[in-house]
Amino acid sequence: MTVFPPSGERVFRLVEIDPLSTDVRRVVLDTADGTPFFYREGQFVSIRLPDGVQRSYSPASACRADGRIELHIRLLSGGHFSTWLEGGDRTGSLVTLGGPYGECVWQTSGSAHAPVFMLGTGTGIAPLKALLEHALSIDGQQPITLYWGGRQADDLYLRAHFDALARQHARFRFVPVLAEPAETWQGQRGFVQDAIAAECPSLAQATVYACGSPLMVASARALLVDEHELAPSRFLADAFVPATAPTVSASGRPALTVHAHRNDEAHPLAVTAGGPLMPALAQAGLLAGVCGGQGACGTCRVRVSSPWRERLVPPTRKETRLLHALDSLPGHRLACQIAMTADLDGLQFDCD
Ligand SMILES: Cc1cc2nc3c(=O)[nH]c(=O)nc-3n(C[C@H](O)[C@H](O)[C@H](O)COP(=O)(O)OP(=O)(O)OC[C@H]3O[C@@H](n4cnc5c(N)ncnc54)[C@H](O)[C@@H]3O)c2cc1C
Ligand code: FES
Repeated sequence: MTVFPPSGERVFRLVEIDPLSTDVRRVVLDTADGTPFFYREGQFVSIRLPDGVQRSYSPASACRADGRIELHIRLLSGGHFSTWLEGGDRTGSLVTLGGPYGECVWQTSGSAHAPVFMLGTGTGIAPLKALLEHALSIDGQQPITLYWGGRQADDLYLRAHFDALARQHARFRFVPVLAEPAETWQGQRGFVQDAIAAECPSLAQATVYACGSPLMVASARALLVDEHELAPSRFLADAFVPATAPTVSASGRPALTVHAHRNDEAHPLAVTAGGPLMPALAQAGLLAGVCGGQGACGTCRVRVSSPWRERLVPPTRKETRLLHALDSLPGHRLACQIAMTADLDGLQFDCD
């Protein structure tokens, strides 16, 4: 199934900002032009601040008829978006919203009774909450288990909400998991991926959604697919990859030079060998790269002409699907999926 990415950018107004915990804010956005905004639960949007900086966030509720969007935003000390959000009363501020993006959406195929597991850390609960609202609103018998992980009890800022939901719906189970709990903690300890692995030796029939820390997502994928028989196509994830990942590694790998062309202007850039092409372009402001390089948003599309095009490793199925959804032309590629090898030194391409 293909979930189409950008449906254009829209202006939204921040209408509510409330604390969910000491470092998480619930932010509600409303369309400035009054027309509804549609997304599929589990997808994410990009938000561009008035200064042009863009970050990704995942709606935390099922798509609403009034077009309002609820986000859960964790504040990071020194973070650009976080500092802006806390830098005064932002209610009424206008931001530009792009998307929706991503394929971490409800899967309809599979047996009617096949189990569904959701793994979230921190604000990774936001897209899972939206998915859950959708899943529980449709007829279905699939048992759904949500594992939500944090360091301490305060991190699980919606625990009472999910406890109540579990009491209302017999097919929904909620398992809070703490990595560094107080001695009095009665629940599960450790990490969400280990909790599901301990409980389910085989996930051959299951679908798993994982959202939040990139480390948890990578570790859950490796553990559940390699050791617990989960089909790779039934592991759906959104890793909250920081948009500000460093472009030059500290490992001392050599820098290659690439030539990005935009509006008839050439931009020579240094790119680290072995890494993807995208981060240097995003840092130079030549493209957005809003999903942090997961091949999920398409905002890093570039057009590579011959003879460079033929030197690139052919696109994977996932990249081909997204390029197709974007009505791409021959030579179009996702910069986040281009691994920079020494023979690509001097690479020339156009930024859309
Ligand atoms: C697909 C996707 C969906 C996302 N959805 C959400 C969401 O629903 N809610 C949410 O709160 N965030 C979400 N994020 C993360 C969000 O986009 C930002 O990365 C985050 O809010 C930090 O932005 P900032 O501008 O405040 O900090 P930045 O200016 O980007 O970063 C400041 C510093 O903090 C580091 N940093 C950034 N993120 C993290 C992190 N998670 N943990 C530790 N250090 C970090 C950076 O490397 C940098 O050094 C999502 C990211 C992606 C890719
Ligand atoms: S950064 Fe999102 S697809 Fe490349």
